[in-house]
Amino acid sequence: AIERTLSIVKPDAVGKNHIGDIYARFEKGGLKIVAAKMKQLSKADAEGFYAEHKERGFFGDLVAFMTSGPVLVSVLEGENAVLAHRDILGATNPKEAAPGTIRADFATSIDENAAHGSDSVESANREIAYFFTADEVTTRTR
Ligand code: CMP
Repeated sequence: AIERTLSIVKPDAVGKNHIGDIYARFEKGGLKIVAAKMKQLSKADAEGFYAEHKERGFFGDLVAFMTSGPVLVSVLEGENAVLAHRDILGATNPKEAAPGTIRADFATSIDENAAHGSDSVESANREIAYFFTADEVTTRTR
């Protein structure tokens, strides 16, 4: 089925000028960019986005990292987009990420892992709505 998923190019990858490399992999992988915005997340933005992790030991470091510089938030659309996007990203921990994946090539650690992707269609719906209004998500007919 055609799905939508939320993608975040994280502050480490933005800082290393890897936005274009990462977008190229999404587009070559058949995913269409249907919405995008550059954003400096506030502490409240990051805490709300990652609320499901608030009891985890890494939560404070995660929020500090995600607010350390601008991120590029996008909505990607395509066949099985949630899984297709996660395959292109590779494992959360770059040490476990398959060769040729974004995390293997651009991430340095599990904390600074270059990009985020929604883990299910349900998460994607919540995460897309967290950053985009309905009218900010475009319809691609070509
Ligand atoms: P992300 O997909 O953005 O979702 C939560 C983030 O927390 C994750 O990527 C990692 O960058 C970070 N993180 C740090 N430590 C861990 C951990 N032990 N397990 C999962 N995520 C972690």
